[in-house]
Amino acid sequence: MSPKTPKESRTVVTDMVLPGETNPINNLFGGELLARMDRAAGIAARRHSRRIVVTAAVNHVSFNRAIPLGSVVTIEAKVSRAFKTSMEVFMDIWIEDRESGLKTKANEAIYTFVAVDETGRPVGIPEITPETDLEKDRFVAALRRKQLSLVLAKKMRPEDATELKALFE
Ligand SMILES: CC(C)(COP(=O)(O)OP(=O)(O)OC[C@H]1O[C@@H](n2cnc3c(N)ncnc32)[C@H](O)[C@@H]1OP(=O)(O)O)[C@@H](O)C(=O)NCCC(=O)NCCS
Repeated sequence: MSPKTPKESRTVVTDMVLPGETNPINNLFGGELLARMDRAAGIAARRHSRRIVVTAAVNHVSFNRAIPLGSVVTIEAKVSRAFKTSMEVFMDIWIEDRESGLKTKANEAIYTFVAVDETGRPVGIPEITPETDLEKDRFVAALRRKQLSLVLAKKMRPEDATELKALFE
C-alpha cells in the first residue's frame, strides 16, 4: 500500500442548524454536533483506508463557542495520522457569518477510527505523510493522544506509554 497524504482524506460537510437540533437556549445540541462530526470523520477515514471503518474512540471535543439556531456549520475532517489499523481524524468546525460570509472557528474535535473487514476484524491501512506544518504538528502529537486513549481504555499500561510520559518528565 503506497502512503497517502492528509489532503486525500479531506472531507468538508456544510449544513444548517434547524429547530429540533437545539438545546433550550436555541444553540446546537452537543449530541447533534457529535453525530455530524462522527459522519464527517468516518468519511475521511474511509477515504484514507478505502475500507469499512468504525469509531473506536472520541479522543477530544471542545465546545468553545455556542452555535446558534440558523447557523451554517462547516466541519472539515482530515486523517492526521494512520497507525497499523487505526486512524486519528482531526476536525475543525467553523460557523459562517450570514452577512459577511466570514468563517469563525467554533470547535475542534479528534476521533479515532479503525478499518475493519466484513466480519469486523481490524485490517491494515496505508501510511500517511503529512505535508503542511500544521499537519506535521498534528501527526507528531497523534501518537501521544493514541497512548492516552489506550491507557484510559485500559488497553495499554501507563508505564508503556513512553511518548506520553515524556511530556511530564
Ligand atoms: C474498534 C475495534 C474494531 C477494535 O478492535 P480490537 O479487537 O480492540 O482490536 P485491536 O486491539 O487490534 O485494536 C485495533 C486498533 O484500534 C486501536 N484502538 C483500540 N481501542 C482504541 C482506543 N480506545 N483508542 C485509540 N485506539 C484504539 C488499537 O490501538 C489498534 O490500533 P493499531 O492497529 O493502529 O495499532 C473494536 O473494539 C470494535 O469493533 N468496537 C466497536 C466499534 C463500534 O461499534 N463503534 C461505533 C460505536 S456505537
